[in-house]
Amino acid sequence: MQSSISESVLDWYDKFGRKNLPWKVDDPYKIWISEIMLQQTQVQTVIPYYLKFIKKYPDIKSLSKASLDDLLLIWSGLGYYTRIKNIHAASQIISNHYNDMFPKSFDEILMLPGIGRTTASAISTFSGFSNRAILDGNVKRILLRFFNINDTYAKSELDKILWKKSEFITPPKRTSDFIQGLMDLGATVCKRTQPDCLICPIKKCGCLYEPDIKQKKDIKKTIKKISTLLTVIINQHNQVYLEKITTGKLWLGLFSSPTFNSQSLKNNWMLNNNLVHLDPMYESSFTHRVTNKIYHFNVQYYFLKNDKKVSLSTKNWYNLSDINVGLPRYLDKALTIYRSKHEKDNV
Ligand code: ADE
Repeated sequence: MQSSISESVLDWYDKFGRKNLPWKVDDPYKIWISEIMLQQTQVQTVIPYYLKFIKKYPDIKSLSKASLDDLLLIWSGLGYYTRIKNIHAASQIISNHYNDMFPKSFDEILMLPGIGRTTASAISTFSGFSNRAILDGNVKRILLRFFNINDTYAKSELDKILWKKSEFITPPKRTSDFIQGLMDLGATVCKRTQPDCLICPIKKCGCLYEPDIKQKKDIKKTIKKISTLLTVIINQHNQVYLEKITTGKLWLGLFSSPTFNSQSLKNNWMLNNNLVHLDPMYESSFTHRVTNKIYHFNVQYYFLKNDKKVSLSTKNWYNLSDINVGLPRYLDKALTIYRSKHEKDNV
């Protein structure tokens, strides 16, 4: 069965795999950046970010000189910001310990921050340093379905079983094309919902998945709803008031208009900064989804004239036309609403 799965995946990859992507190059640095971007983001979204990133930071040397704030700025909108913090930390290690050369051995790659077994395998295999199996979310799903492995195992036990299976089906030759083919197959055919079993190249290799029965069993992730008050303040110089986010994990280090979990927290903040006399110009609301959380933002937009009594720091104002710090995507949405309204008002 081993050769049959690998041959079928390779044939399929030769016909349908995504081969012209910009990170299909012979440079482990570029492959590393692309693999980190692709960890939680789809190919089409990654492409423009990748091109911009590599243009600005073509190698470890240029990257290692960048500050974390510079990197958060170029990453902003891509989400999962821990990834770029780890890239920053890893670039310092590579610069200091590997003389600005991306390490070649799997074990050294695995030691870098933000790189687990699958990413280390992918980087070293795509770079031609090794021939290793991978086990990302897509490959896990393919294996669970193909071998009809029941999901009652503890996670660590299940991972052990799946790594064995992945190593078993991974061929020693054309390993790089095979693992890329598996990832592409998971993303485009053996999808989480509504897999296209009729066109699947490994159906004929003895896949045990029964789409109709199993699909009903697929566990829907529980979605958490979170309500947030977002306070966008604009001054007469067309600047927006932003503070660096210092709590939580999701957007830590980026810059945002103040957010509050309750009206009373917002009232206190307005009071402490002598802003209670301000009335909002208008309001808007939108939702923003991050993995299994849906944030419902209620936005109030305020206009602040030159006012000596207001105690907001003068350092926290950023030109709306040229914000040079990293913003979370929800703030982009809120500012886009402001801009479209403002531009309309000026017509
Ligand atoms: N996810 C992680 N690495 C990937 C890759 N090389 N291609 C497509 N999706 C991926």
